[in-house]
Amino acid sequence: MILKKVKGLSGEITVPGDKSISHRSIMLGSLAKGTTEVTGFLQGADCLSTIACFSKMGVCIENKNDVVLIKGQGLHGLKKPDDTLDVGNSGTTTRLMSGILAAQNFACRVNGDASIQKRPMKRIMTPLEMMGADIKSELENGCAPLLINGRKLKGIHYDSPVASAQVKSAILFAGLYADEETSVTEPAVSRNHTELMFDAYGVDIKVEGKTVTVKPADELFARKVEVPGDISSATYFIVAAAITPNSCVTVKNVGVNPTRDGIIKVCEMMGADIKVEVKSGDVVEPTADITVKTSNLKGCVVGGDIVPTLIDEIPAIAILACFAQGDTVIKDAQELKVKESNRIDVMVNNLKAMGADIEATDDGMIIHGGKTLHGAVIDSRLDHRVAMSFAVAALNADGETEITGSECVEISYPGFYEDINKLILK
Ligand code: S3P
Repeated sequence: MILKKVKGLSGEITVPGDKSISHRSIMLGSLAKGTTEVTGFLQGADCLSTIACFSKMGVCIENKNDVVLIKGQGLHGLKKPDDTLDVGNSGTTTRLMSGILAAQNFACRVNGDASIQKRPMKRIMTPLEMMGADIKSELENGCAPLLINGRKLKGIHYDSPVASAQVKSAILFAGLYADEETSVTEPAVSRNHTELMFDAYGVDIKVEGKTVTVKPADELFARKVEVPGDISSATYFIVAAAITPNSCVTVKNVGVNPTRDGIIKVCEMMGADIKVEVKSGDVVEPTADITVKTSNLKGCVVGGDIVPTLIDEIPAIAILACFAQGDTVIKDAQELKVKESNRIDVMVNNLKAMGADIEATDDGMIIHGGKTLHGAVIDSRLDHRVAMSFAVAALNADGETEITGSECVEISYPGFYEDINKLILK
């Protein structure tokens, strides 16, 4: 993909459905009694991997256009798959599904692509083993392939060393099958889609501060799921509109769950011209239309409890910071090193290649804003969020920018480049 500087961005856009909620809709829909209808489902490669895995376990899933119908098999209705469950590039599928597999009455193998085979799985293996699970890393390196031999599980309390919704959710899914209640305390609150959806499916779950407690379930009840637009995908347009001259973009129907909306707060801290029009109504997940105009930005500090609420947006925030006056410090974000790529290294090295004044730190990066960026060859390392962040930077860089592996945006945003094109002022 080759991109160039643009005159401006203008118009309205609707981004694809939320990735986290789409994954969970398949998992809960498969375990429920009755048929779950999902609208706005994200047709990205990661969520299609989740559909493929649960289909292999005997769940009938019909995926037509944006509507997905899942014929639930009940909590104990999954069947042993004939061969390895392929999670592709998806950490969410691997970790959440492992919590479910740990409690089944069969053994299976879980594997994915080269990136998945480097992602840390000890973080879920440890608490699941405390619950009595038999889960092994085939190569004994703490990564996939995983061999999971379903067992009876016991309820535990787990003090998680990391604020990770994937770890929390793996434990909560396993907790549905445990002999007594299971609770997880996190160091900071991570995204709470699992908690909200468990409640909507009739599970007894309660949240007190940073602790979530789930009771073992007899049955889950199917329901309609309306997936809002993914705020992580909306972020690329929010940042693009803020840093590009002559711009005004509205992103419609974006999920603005408070455990995910850190990007909005950062935009406000940096002085962006951003308006959030929240929709009312009795819904599980709140949504809003977000309008952003060309902005005069100033640097800020991003750290502490806000980090889990914007963890996937940090690559795009690094781009935003390059176009702000003064310094932006991103800290407490060590987790970036174990995402689809090492996002500290990849962002810092590629932004340096474009002429940015940026340095890596142990837990984030420091960006000295205001340097003019120029085109470069960007190695996306096949990380979708890196590719999309640099596409946004390229619209404001002198000369041409080439993004290698640019097709990896399919993981979370099929049609991303087409959507950007629609907004470019001709
Ligand atoms: C996700 C949680 C986050 C996020 C990932 C999706 C989820 O990971 O980075 O893209 O759906 O639970 P961690 O919770 O492990 O930080």
